[in-house]
Amino acid sequence: MKKNKKQIAKKLWSRALKVIPTGNMLLSKNPNRFLPGKWPTYYKKAKDCFIWGVDGKKYLDVSTMGFGTNILGYSNSKVDKTVHNFIDKGNMSTLNAPEEVYLAEKLIQLHPWFKMVRFARTGGEANSIAIRIARASSGKDGVAICGYHGWHDWYLSSNIQNKKNLDTHLIKRLQTDGVPQSLKNTVFPFQYNDFETLKKIVDKNKIGVIKMEVYRNIEPKNDFLKKIRKLADKKNIVLIFDECTSGFRKSYGGLHKIYNVKPDMAIFGKALGNGYAITAVLGKKEIMECVQNTFISSTFWTERIGSVAGLETLKIMEEIESWKLIDKIGKNIKKTWGEISQNTKVPIEISGLNALAQFKIISKNSNIFKTYITQEMLKKNILATDTIYVSIKHKDKILQKYYENLEKIFKIIAKYQYSKNVKSLLKTKESAMGLPRLN
Ligand SMILES: Cc1ncc(COP(=O)(O)O)c(C=O)c1O
Repeated sequence: MKKNKKQIAKKLWSRALKVIPTGNMLLSKNPNRFLPGKWPTYYKKAKDCFIWGVDGKKYLDVSTMGFGTNILGYSNSKVDKTVHNFIDKGNMSTLNAPEEVYLAEKLIQLHPWFKMVRFARTGGEANSIAIRIARASSGKDGVAICGYHGWHDWYLSSNIQNKKNLDTHLIKRLQTDGVPQSLKNTVFPFQYNDFETLKKIVDKNKIGVIKMEVYRNIEPKNDFLKKIRKLADKKNIVLIFDECTSGFRKSYGGLHKIYNVKPDMAIFGKALGNGYAITAVLGKKEIMECVQNTFISSTFWTERIGSVAGLETLKIMEEIESWKLIDKIGKNIKKTWGEISQNTKVPIEISGLNALAQFKIISKNSNIFKTYITQEMLKKNILATDTIYVSIKHKDKILQKYYENLEKIFKIIAKYQYSKNVKSLLKTKESAMGLPRLN
């Protein structure tokens, strides 16, 4: 029976590739990005920081926790109960859901420099909405960007001018077939902490919008964010912070609250509904009201579950101060990584927010070692890679099993650090992290 389940899990991905181009709907959940041919890929049930695979195994998730969607753990009973109650009352009707008003008010209360909010259901959508509104407000098409902002035409068009333009902004080699060539030279990427390049972009082009992640891997240096705010003010540019990933991981709301730099608009997603689809675009009144002069509207942006889940998630986050909890857990994870690295003499580089901690083994074989970690952890029923999206359920007691195994794996890596035979560690191909073409 058990063997049968394992086979079903394996075959499902092959079946998927026959009926779903690229196999699934989110590149980051492609099994080849973890452990080609061996990653469990499909789940039956998820609770707290555990996942039950269709292969019949129970896994501890010390990897991406639904790609950052579940700070309060999978299937949080309070959020789920509230959502169920509202499902019983009807998720959709001809009339609007009052909860969208309450959620807008709550988000503004957390960020009083914004006065209006529009909702969507995905981060990419919210980014497109923000760009349309910001362009409408500034009257200029040019956008300077830094970071990852989704799959839409406006963002991918950065790669028309140079197909490597977005390579350093999270996903490498993003292709642009189907994106109108006429969008060439409308979006200009700049590197994080490189203010001079941004300034040149702004001086040379008609830039109406700067859109950026507040922080993903490295901290702002030399007043980077403050300088950008000043530049945007001077040049009449709408400054947007995309907080889809950074939001609620270090503060109750935007990470920009910590840095005390206020953008003109901000975008939230991922963790806002603790696994239910809800994203938000917040902005100053005069900017947001430009929606009146364009058209931004969609049926399922009005469904009730999203706002209800968002409100309940924010309520729980506030009660338990979840951003402090995950920051502390993440800090401890980083500290333990450092100790394991020292004990085993395997050098690593640690980066990211505490609640979105990352490490990289310093070696030309770092990707092989990363894949090896995933391979060996899987044998112990642990989903692990080089990144942890921390949830409040990652209690120290639970993490002990992960740490013990990591130290054992690092001891073996230490032996292979300078070995020519390093590929022999892997029973599969290397993980294809960072690359879009996987099949
Ligand atoms: C900063 C940022 N913006 C936008 C997105 C896109 O969000 P979604 O995948 O929900 O469309 C992501 C997703 O990883 C993100 O990290």
